[in-house]
Amino acid sequence: MIKNKLEEFVDDKVFDQIIDYLKANNCSSVPFFKDNYLKRRIFLRALALKFKSLDDYLNYLKNNKDEIRVFDDLITINVSYFFRNVETFNVLREEIFPLIFQKKSKRGEKFLKILSIGCANGEETYSLGILLNEYFEKEIVCIKPYVLGIDYDFNSIVQARIGVYDEQKLEYVPSNLLKYFEKLDNKKFIVNNKIKKMVVFRLEDIFKSDIKKYWDIIFCRNMLIYLNLQAQEKLLKKIYELCINDGYLVLGKSETLPASSRKLFNTVNIKERIYKKRSDYEGKS
Ligand SMILES: C[S@@+](CC[C@H](N)C(=O)[O-])C[C@H]1O[C@@H](n2cnc3c(N)ncnc32)[C@H](O)[C@@H]1O
Repeated sequence: MIKNKLEEFVDDKVFDQIIDYLKANNCSSVPFFKDNYLKRRIFLRALALKFKSLDDYLNYLKNNKDEIRVFDDLITINVSYFFRNVETFNVLREEIFPLIFQKKSKRGEKFLKILSIGCANGEETYSLGILLNEYFEKEIVCIKPYVLGIDYDFNSIVQARIGVYDEQKLEYVPSNLLKYFEKLDNKKFIVNNKIKKMVVFRLEDIFKSDIKKYWDIIFCRNMLIYLNLQAQEKLLKKIYELCINDGYLVLGKSETLPASSRKLFNTVNIKERIYKKRSDYEGKS
């Protein structure tokens, strides 16, 4: 239903004018998003402001400088929850982390470096801390985990560092892992201190970041899906460079590698979207 309305409402010419205006006024994330996603966001925003046409929204945009920032915030989707797609965490626990620890132990390596790109309010990053603490207690004594969550949304990073969540964010936490949360008086839950000390959050735009290139496993879940093909390719090339040689990449369950990026990673588990950096790709671009 909304689709028809959207098609009636969104005139492509005015849409292009809006996008050009946003780009010219430093709405920094717009160039990376898919057109369809932007159309839907603009449509919903125009409806929320009770405009009857897209032209009205363009005028409003031009006359209200604050709207650029408001729109930039609106296109940032930071929905997440603990142990999102718990099956993926199960495969990590049963197959991937044991392999990584074995390899590191043979090589005498002392650190396990995990990066979560687009960490939203920290749910995924803390879930990884919990998993390591619960199932790899012995291993992490000798091989210390460094778990970093980055996001370009200021409020998300503040929220992640605070580590307080509504109950529904915990819906998929396996019952034996609920002990890692303490209930507060206001019925919210806080991640316990041990886990908080295991993870670090930083405000970073992955496209601009000069983050170190040493990650054993990179999570980039449910972010690619909003990006246009060009931005997806750029991001995957960057992830390829950030990973160590036999490093892993985990995408979201509804995401896939675009054909042009398959030269960079081999598939380890297609169902859980787990990939491994290809060592035979030497291409520079
Ligand atoms: C839908 S959330 C995904 C959260 C979590 N990874 C998950 O799967 O549950 C996408 C996150 O990506 C972040 N994001 C989008 N573009 C980004 C960029 N260029 N650099 C860093 N974070 C970005 C957004 O702010 C948002 O918090």
